[in-house]
Amino acid sequence: MILQLFSTKGGVSKTTIAINLAAEYLRQGFSVALVDGDRQGSAHTWSQRREQLDVKQPHSIQKTGRINKTLAELNEQYDFVIVDTGGFDSQEMRTGLMVADIGIIPFRPSQMDLDVIPRLYELIEGAKDFNDGLQVYGLLSLAPTNVLNTEIKNAKQKLADYPEIEMINTIIRDRKSFRDSIEYGASVIEMDDQKAKAEIQILASMIQKTMETA
Ligand SMILES: Nc1ncnc2c1ncn2[C@@H]1O[C@H](COP(=O)(O)OP(=O)(O)OP(=O)(O)O)[C@@H](O)[C@H]1O
Ligand SMILES: [Mg+2]
Repeated sequence: MILQLFSTKGGVSKTTIAINLAAEYLRQGFSVALVDGDRQGSAHTWSQRREQLDVKQPHSIQKTGRINKTLAELNEQYDFVIVDTGGFDSQEMRTGLMVADIGIIPFRPSQMDLDVIPRLYELIEGAKDFNDGLQVYGLLSLAPTNVLNTEIKNAKQKLADYPEIEMINTIIRDRKSFRDSIEYGASVIEMDDQKAKAEIQILASMIQKTMETA
């Protein structure tokens, strides 16, 4: 399965979600290729740090430009091909979506993040012209943990105006363990923060269910 994290917005947690999902699917015993399609190379750097740890490793590669053929080849060899792309419109983002099974767009619950939706529409429609089977979902991420905060509710109301982007029915919250784990090449799956771990595991299983019903 090819799973691509993308957005035309930077800093929304694409890389963080890509590497945490990779770690969770590895934990479950799946083989995982992690494709870093961002020249910044954050996901690939994380994989290199991870080699120092006694944990399961993804097959990590960096590939920019036209990545569709590489992804299709990796998809023959690995259970999951997880693709991270940069926070801007790019050839890797567009060519990845030409072969992806699932595209996930993380959104922070703020107006500036939601403002990118019209631009994303054009991108998604373009990809679907090539790739009928592409399923695209939005995911609220970096959401406040404070239950009294109204930003999540407001964002959900605004996102409901865009039915073309179906929202995954779970939320990733702003938790320090997501930041701390990266430094060591770890993920929240290997850390003590049970809440963060549960969030990633719920997301991972929802993605698997989506594929079963596709
Ligand atoms: N759920 C979270 N909780 C706390 N911090 C987070 C979370 N998700 C991401 N971060 C932090 O937010 C910052 C941006 O995350 P990340 O680099 O994953 O976003 P990105 O969308 O990949 O950004 P870019 O567009 O620059 O590639 C990082 O410092 C990361 O550690
Ligand atoms: Mg990134």
